Amino acid sequence: MLICKTISEAKQILTTEQKNRTTIGFVPTMGALHEGHLALIRKARSDCNFVVVSIFVNPTQFNNREDFEKYPRIFESDIEKLRQSGSCDLLFMPNEEEMYPEPDTRYFELGYLEQIMEGKYRPGHFQGVVKIVTKLFDIINPHKAYFGKKDFQQLTIIKKIVRDFNYPIEIVECDIVRETNGLAMSSRNLRLSEDERNKASIIFKTLIQVKKWIDEKYSINEICQKVKTNIESVSPFQVEYVEVVDSQTLMPVNDISQHRSIHCCVAVFCNQVRLIDNIEILL
Ligand code: PAJ
Repeated sequence: MLICKTISEAKQILTTEQKNRTTIGFVPTMGALHEGHLALIRKARSDCNFVVVSIFVNPTQFNNREDFEKYPRIFESDIEKLRQSGSCDLLFMPNEEEMYPEPDTRYFELGYLEQIMEGKYRPGHFQGVVKIVTKLFDIINPHKAYFGKKDFQQLTIIKKIVRDFNYPIEIVECDIVRETNGLAMSSRNLRLSEDERNKASIIFKTLIQVKKWIDEKYSINEICQKVKTNIESVSPFQVEYVEVVDSQTLMPVNDISQHRSIHCCVAVFCNQVRLIDNIEILL
């Protein structure tokens, strides 16, 4: 596994690969790698001849300074995990100066997609995500890029950007990887105590009831209220939002009969740690 920290080194390596007509797969991450990330990387390995992983804790996507500062940075163990996986050919680990030598003032028109859910509660978050992902795409020029459904709204926005800017990149969507108790794997889980991690199973346990509540003809409002009450019945969990949205447009759902597939998305605080999760419901 090659490791490089500068854009010019990465480009040099990748130019050679492109000349060899290699299929390049790319998995962008912020590190603190877990099985969720590794599943994306293994999928890239099985599809592509050359797999690039990036690790960069992107400051522009954090709207909360403390969240940025407390974001786990365990780069040595990340490198070890990647080596052991045998699935990564090039690890790109730039620093802030390399990615943002000057402030990136670009504005991306994301419309409604950044006004709801994560966009509403983390203003500017998706502008930062799109800034870094487009910069990385422009450096790596992958054929395929791998994103997890855990960050469902992020995935939808990346697909829009790829369409809007005609990036010749196939976005590969990967299923959510969960702990055995159902908790969606996340780098932020490292900030939970063992007891909190166990109790956090309430989030997925609640989400899997949504389909049943739909079948029992509860209204969307009632379902959202039930999700909130159920999760908050376990201390110290506090729900920031529950939304039921159309899986394609992310528009709020009122009349279920008008949709083929919907997503129930939640953001939940466990003290200072913010967790997100979602479930797809086919109708
Ligand atoms: P990060 O949170 O490190 O996630 C990197 C990728 O791993 C994302 O595509 C995310 O959806 C996926 N992922 C995380 N947890 C997962 C899980 N439990 N199951 C499946 N996939 C999972 O998302 C980001 O970083 C950043 O916003 C980034 C795209 C790298 C831009 O900075």
